[in-house]
Amino acid sequence: MTKEIDILEKTKLPFSELGVSSGSEIEELFRKLLQKAEGEAKSISTEEQLEELRIRWLGRKRGVLTLVTENWLVPAPPPSKPWVGTYLNWFKEQLANLVGYREHAIRTLAEQEVREAHVVDLTLPGNIPSHGARHLITQTMEEICDIFLRLGFSVVEGPEIETAYYNFEALNMPAHHPARDMWDTLYLNLPGGAEPLLLRTHTSPMQIRVMEKQKPPVRVVVPGKVYRHDNPDASHSFMFHQIEGLAVDRDITFGDLKGVLDHFLREFFGPQTRTRFVPSYFPFTEPSADVHGSCHVCGSAGCRVCKFTGWIELVGCGMVDPNVYGFVGYDAQELSGFAFGMGVDRFAMLKYGIDDIQLFFQNDVRFLMQFRR
Ligand code: PHE
Repeated sequence: MTKEIDILEKTKLPFSELGVSSGSEIEELFRKLLQKAEGEAKSISTEEQLEELRIRWLGRKRGVLTLVTENWLVPAPPPSKPWVGTYLNWFKEQLANLVGYREHAIRTLAEQEVREAHVVDLTLPGNIPSHGARHLITQTMEEICDIFLRLGFSVVEGPEIETAYYNFEALNMPAHHPARDMWDTLYLNLPGGAEPLLLRTHTSPMQIRVMEKQKPPVRVVVPGKVYRHDNPDASHSFMFHQIEGLAVDRDITFGDLKGVLDHFLREFFGPQTRTRFVPSYFPFTEPSADVHGSCHVCGSAGCRVCKFTGWIELVGCGMVDPNVYGFVGYDAQELSGFAFGMGVDRFAMLKYGIDDIQLFFQNDVRFLMQFRR
């Protein structure tokens, strides 16, 4: 009994040693070969294995198809050659189909695995988007303006680029007036400008702009940015924020000014806040005062914040100097009024215990997040 030789072994034999001659015998050989390929194809599941299968059967150099072409077809005697050729072509087509189907199956399986791995788990908590918030300076400005709104003031805003006329002259500081040195001014060097421009050093120029536009009575507050030629440190910044106040009417007295600022500071720092008005000087108010508030940290006992004086300088103010009315066509005989100005950054620092003004402008979210409301 001759042992049946494995079909793959037979691919190494030349046609003459196969012992086949009829068409059906040749067909049988190719069917067995295809069965072998199908068996192998069934057992693979990865793209790498698929590539191995392809090389093993269809590879140009050592693939089974190449072997049977060289060993079976080429040396086949003329009567058998057409049969070998016919079945070889059929076999080649079947192999290509087999690999193609397998490839499709493996790909689909891989895609399905990916899909299953990415299934949406509806029980997971959602992503909470982090939302922005108003900057602490903005919040403080609004808080201050709100207090004055409740007292009947309205809120207006004005330009940050100003002329010397509004920033100084109409505020009773003619050219070369020494009081101009109270503010280290940043001038703009613009080509061909008729009038030299500057960055406003305070919000007071808006006193003039409001009165130019509006007949008395006037009651406004003006929040905004101001600029000074200062070196930045923990208490200085070349840009910071002020709120200006102006009230002009008949019969307004220093008592009104005291009452308004007294009320405002109690609203802002708390009802225990006491105030004192210390004589001061501003070119555009007469008389002028600095308002001190009792230290909200130690209640005037003395601490680091009030530098152990018990008091903190908060607001500059005074009665509008009659000369100022002359610049806006107001009748200084008929009218009187008061003006005040304060630093928003400073108020925020005092109220929230912030010891470095630079923190407002560095925009470090770890700082800003603490004041998210
Ligand atoms: N403009 C002054 C300053 O910046 C503050 C001030 C405003 C004083 C209004 C009196 C009246 O220092």
